Amino acid sequence: MILTQDELKRIAAYKAVDFVKSGMVLGLGTGSTAKHAVDRIGELLRRGELENIVGIPTSKKTQEQALSLGIPLSDLDSHPVIDLSIDGADEVDPRLNLVKGRGGSLLREKMIEGASKKFVVIVDESKMVKHIGGSKLALPVEVVPFCWEFTAERLRGVMEGYGGCEAKLRFGENGRAFVTDNGNYIVDMYLEKDMGDLRVVSDEILRLPGVVEHGMFLDMASTVIIAGELGVKIKNK
Ligand code: A5P
Repeated sequence: MILTQDELKRIAAYKAVDFVKSGMVLGLGTGSTAKHAVDRIGELLRRGELENIVGIPTSKKTQEQALSLGIPLSDLDSHPVIDLSIDGADEVDPRLNLVKGRGGSLLREKMIEGASKKFVVIVDESKMVKHIGGSKLALPVEVVPFCWEFTAERLRGVMEGYGGCEAKLRFGENGRAFVTDNGNYIVDMYLEKDMGDLRVVSDEILRLPGVVEHGMFLDMASTVIIAGELGVKIKNK
């Protein structure tokens, strides 16, 4: 039987929700895979199979979804330590480093997932790569709108040392600059080659004034659940 990509996403998401226990504070991810996990948590709450869950949403979109499902919500100010976060990813490498943020929610995701005792990543097998940032898809960087072109040029300059990149402002469906939940812009970097030492690149990018955060999630995932045609694989750090 051939499963669709969405069915694989759902299988990974449901598997991750098996880790959820009553009474937990949960980071609720964003994107088409995480959406299945949030639906499932809502369903288990409704059926009384989970109780006393508090959700911390990683985007306004997830907040709306969770509210519509009756999941009680809070934030990092009230719950600075999260028991478990579940979220998708755009790329996962063999060391469980991730690229996230092609949906634009990378900053809140990084804050919430970084504050989690356990971070479970859910993907279909198409997301597995040898080197993150090497797939010709974008590495997103959230930047302040003020003089974003200057920041994009500085990003190009930094990436010169790592084989170069195209850096483009992301546009929304309305044809205008895409604006994140935090009122910022996204510059998508298309890299020419693998970056090498990701920590070094990460630090250089974060040192640029105008950069708010980037979409490399290094050494953050505790577990990755990968759904594929031949079944589900679970990789632990
Ligand atoms: C949102 O900003 C992203 O980090 C998503 O979590 C990531 O892009 C995965 O999304 P999909 O599950 O829709 O592929």
